[in-house]
Amino acid sequence: MKGTFLLFSLLFFVLTAFAEDGYDLWLRYNKISDPVLLQQYRTKISSIQFPATSPTLTVAKKELLNGLEGLLGSSITDKKTISGQSITAGTSSTSTFIQSFLSEGKFSLGKEGFIIATKKIDQKNVILIAADSDVGVLYGVFQFLRLLQTHKNISQLNIVSVPKIQNRILDHWDNLNRTVERGYAGASIWNWHLLPGYIDKRYIDYARANASIGINGTVLTNVNANAMVLTKPYLEKVAELANVFRPYGIKVYLTARFSAPIEIGGLKTADPLDTQVQNWWKQKVDEIYSYVPDFGGFVVKANSEGQPGPQNYGRTHADGANMFADALVSHDGIVMWRAFVYDARVQKSTENFGERKSDPNAPSIASSDRAKQAYDEFKPLDGKFRKNVLVQVKNGPIDFQPREPFSPLFGAMPQTPLVMEFQLTQEYLGQATNLVYEAPLFKECLDADTYAKGMGSTVAKVIDGSLETYPVTAIAGVANIGNERNWTFHPFGQANWYAYGRLAWDHELSSEQIADEWLRQTFTNDLHFVDEAKKIMLMSRETMVNYMTPLGLHHIMGTGFHYGPAPWVDNAGRVDWNPVYYHRADSAGIGFDRTIKGSNAISQYEEDVRKQWANEKTCDEKYLLWFHHVSWKYKMRSGKTLWDELCYKYYSGVDSVRWMQRTWNKLKEYIDEERFEQVKMLLAVQEKEAVWWRNACLLYFQTYSKMPIPPSYEKPDHDLDYYKALTFPYAPGNNGNL
Ligand code: GCU
Repeated sequence: MKGTFLLFSLLFFVLTAFAEDGYDLWLRYNKISDPVLLQQYRTKISSIQFPATSPTLTVAKKELLNGLEGLLGSSITDKKTISGQSITAGTSSTSTFIQSFLSEGKFSLGKEGFIIATKKIDQKNVILIAADSDVGVLYGVFQFLRLLQTHKNISQLNIVSVPKIQNRILDHWDNLNRTVERGYAGASIWNWHLLPGYIDKRYIDYARANASIGINGTVLTNVNANAMVLTKPYLEKVAELANVFRPYGIKVYLTARFSAPIEIGGLKTADPLDTQVQNWWKQKVDEIYSYVPDFGGFVVKANSEGQPGPQNYGRTHADGANMFADALVSHDGIVMWRAFVYDARVQKSTENFGERKSDPNAPSIASSDRAKQAYDEFKPLDGKFRKNVLVQVKNGPIDFQPREPFSPLFGAMPQTPLVMEFQLTQEYLGQATNLVYEAPLFKECLDADTYAKGMGSTVAKVIDGSLETYPVTAIAGVANIGNERNWTFHPFGQANWYAYGRLAWDHELSSEQIADEWLRQTFTNDLHFVDEAKKIMLMSRETMVNYMTPLGLHHIMGTGFHYGPAPWVDNAGRVDWNPVYYHRADSAGIGFDRTIKGSNAISQYEEDVRKQWANEKTCDEKYLLWFHHVSWKYKMRSGKTLWDELCYKYYSGVDSVRWMQRTWNKLKEYIDEERFEQVKMLLAVQEKEAVWWRNACLLYFQTYSKMPIPPSYEKPDHDLDYYKALTFPYAPGNNGNL
């Protein structure tokens, strides 16, 4: 009996030990199953020559050895001298061979770039992974392993890769109590309570994952900031995390609460022009650098959603940002000052989070347009910021909606480097239950033409400094990870973390290439699987737009938690928190008139962009209701009325989810059961949510259009009152302040 139990336990252990629980992300180094390929790789790589003279080279070497031994299923010799059929990795300082190779080639690799090249030594091929810096070698190692993981031909390598943007950052909206604002993947991975003594293995794997895709910065704390992180006990914890991340080339940043001098400094004011306040921040910054010598700098959310800021003292955003910049400049630190601001004159309330206080004296200005505010406040400040200030702008003018046109600030502040802020966590994109591959969303924005300096002035060129030269450039992604075993809860959420990093490194990569790489590394190289799963990924974002907010609709989700549809809400604390404010449906039609006849938000774009979008007939229909209030009977390019087109879009969104389900179901045999079943269940949840969005929105809009849902479509299974009555008091994603 005892023996049977033991045997059973052992079997259980063996099975679970090899279970694909998603923890390894895309860094799976399972032995290559194709015997021909395996043999080819083995003949090319039997040893490495890799002097590891620094912490970064040490982790790079370890990764390379682990990766090779796993993928090739054989042991790799670590040799002192270069020989054929091997890999030589390092910099000019660690290898004379690399030194002469690099100096002959005159490459411009910068601080982080690398080369992977095939060279001949004694008639035998050697693979070089070379860089001018240790971290460049680390990035090269990850890229080389990716080639093997994705079964690429490595016979004649000649890859030169240099990142286009300097600071490629993940922003965590994590609170010190381990809740994560808009987090859907468990608690914060930072175990503040146990730091600095306890180093969770996850911190190291987090650093590996980031380094593998070129992410080189992490903002540890929520933009809705808590000053406590700037106190000594917390700085000791921050320092420990920074020590873990340093070998991986990752710098630590913090969010600075503007009122910290009052809250933890005992001052009476936080006025940025007050010398005492300025000195307080200088000393605080010096103290931070005494713990973290390579501290990256601050992200600041000021005068937005209850966060204090310079306007509390009658000062400008530039006054506030410059105060931090002055404190940081001698340490080479930067300030990323967020442009996500609200018009202070619009009445505030305690609508969703406790921190958002109402301002009883503020008049309500229902006629203003939320979409204009960041531009209105920041454009006039162009040229007034210090050199180490960047203004951080969300991709669209509102707030990470399923689809928005690019923010008009891109291209409008030539003298200020702008940080692109994307949101990986799917706050408005079905949260962690919906499969939505975000690369097409990121690319749509990055590739959009601002015309700031004539045709071809894409958003990507604005932020990477190709249009103007900036001393510093950056991109930020709001993280979608938590302490769920697989990091992101939805197995496909990992793809968004991956895609963000890859695009931050090289925004010219295509969504398709990134999906292809990710699928091969994360699941399998089986061509049929990759092709089918890639189709699912590539159509997923448009599918979601169709069942949530087609044709330019936006911000029509549930109040507070932003879960599910609620286009009927008209009683939120601020006018511009109400869905009715955004869709403006009435008996005449639907959509927000942002042309000259309406809010004229369109005037914030360059003429070439404006001309196209200002006219209903030339406006891309995906933005139609963003810029226009359109009659229900308006004839769309398809020949359908607007109402019929809206019905068609909502119904096709649901149909596409069902197609995704059918396609996924046919992939069972290609991958592990755990992840197959997880995705299958989540797609079923997604289908229900898509139907809910479709029915609730169409039934509600129908009360204005008074037109029928075409009879060929399946009928909504509930009436509007049913959908309006649904409540979700414990939906995830709160920040712990409820
Ligand atoms: C959104 C989000 C908030 C977040 C804010 C921000 O409004 O719902 O939770 O704090 O964006 O980006 O600052």
